[in-house]
Amino acid sequence: MSVVTASRPNDLESFWMPFTANRRFKGAPRLLAKASGVHYFTPEGRQVLDGTAGLWCVNAGHCRPEITEAIQAQAAEMDFAPTFQMGHPLAFELAARVAELAPADLDRVFFCNSGSEAVDTALKIALAYHRARGQGQRTRFVGRERGYHGVGFGGMSVGGIGANKKQFGATLPNVSHLPHTHMLDKNAFARGQPEHGAELADHLERLVGLHMDTIAAVIVEPMAGSTGVLIPPRGYLERLRAICDKHGILLIFDEVITGFGRLGANFASERFNVIPDMITCAKGITNAAVPMGAVICREHLYDAVVNGAPDGIELFHGYTYSAHPLACAAGLATLDVHRKEDLSGRVRALESYWEDCAHALRGLPNVIDVRNIGLVAGVELAPMPGKATERAYQIFVRCFEKGLLTRVTGDIVALSPPLTIEKPQIDEIFAILSEAIRAVD
Ligand SMILES: Cc1ncc(COP(=O)(O)O)c(C=O)c1O
Repeated sequence: MSVVTASRPNDLESFWMPFTANRRFKGAPRLLAKASGVHYFTPEGRQVLDGTAGLWCVNAGHCRPEITEAIQAQAAEMDFAPTFQMGHPLAFELAARVAELAPADLDRVFFCNSGSEAVDTALKIALAYHRARGQGQRTRFVGRERGYHGVGFGGMSVGGIGANKKQFGATLPNVSHLPHTHMLDKNAFARGQPEHGAELADHLERLVGLHMDTIAAVIVEPMAGSTGVLIPPRGYLERLRAICDKHGILLIFDEVITGFGRLGANFASERFNVIPDMITCAKGITNAAVPMGAVICREHLYDAVVNGAPDGIELFHGYTYSAHPLACAAGLATLDVHRKEDLSGRVRALESYWEDCAHALRGLPNVIDVRNIGLVAGVELAPMPGKATERAYQIFVRCFEKGLLTRVTGDIVALSPPLTIEKPQIDEIFAILSEAIRAVD
């Protein structure tokens, strides 16, 4: 006998919300029901300017007809096809297009469904690469304090956020961390890359001294977004690259938020002119319309793992939804929009305007730093005495009430609007934020 239960209207209890203060939210919910261009709309029809491109992902603006139509057409043509020992044309086409965008010989693309999966995939490829070359002792990973690499066991372990680990206890063994590069005393109110801190990369030499030839890979975000917009000091990434090269260590750039135009180049590695061995990406690859992630590898990695293996499956890794046809369709349509509208070029053209607007917040009550690069800004606030994170949270709530979506982490407000934003909308972002900062004094 089947039991049919009517769903309860307005029931907020069943959905266990991710990275959310569930009880606080469900007491005073903030709902989004519709999106278009650079705006969201609440169920009541109130317009909210999207200052965060969703979650750093809707780079080309919401509900782009080109992308929506490509997904609809693909859903009708072929909803799913396996990519284990089978293939479908869009998967190969999208991989080739991503390879074309990525710098240097970052030409081999492994698809997955999220940033977290991309990170765990990259870590596994690093291990497989070293084993294929007879260096199976290289099993240690190096991450960085304040790094965010998603929530899989690999990404959580190399990540540098205590709060994300403390409930779970078990993390990967053999993980070390570099110090973070956030130095307010020296670099506050820097525009673009800060001057001080390149020497922090030298800590990797000390880890090599301790762990010798057991380090497989270093993973960092070229610009860390989730822990509050930490921009790499001048010379820092170059130094990491040089030390990795010297010791046979792979360098992975986690470009889940910096990929696809955010910093005014296809990838941050292009903007900073430092070529990693692997790039992890997700989010903007499909404009977030269908979940997708990817690991982009240099040819020598693929050659070592694939061409060096005996006949048969070369890498025992993959996801049912690797290169899902709907994601591929969304990805191809997204990359067409990027090309047609030169979204990276737009970012470069808007960057100095964006920077000036952001730095105009300097001098407002409790603003202790403003930092920016590409179409990203971080505004750091002095915590309320005894109530860390509360000031930024209250500013976030007030901004939402006044029609602006921001993202807060700790006492930092992070801004990363769709790359299609216009100057008057940039003015609106900073007008609302500045009012909220004054109001929450
Ligand atoms: C740098 C970085 N890596 C990994 C992730 C995890 O991505 P996802 O939430 O798609 O698993 C994020 C998410 O914000 C990120 O910013």
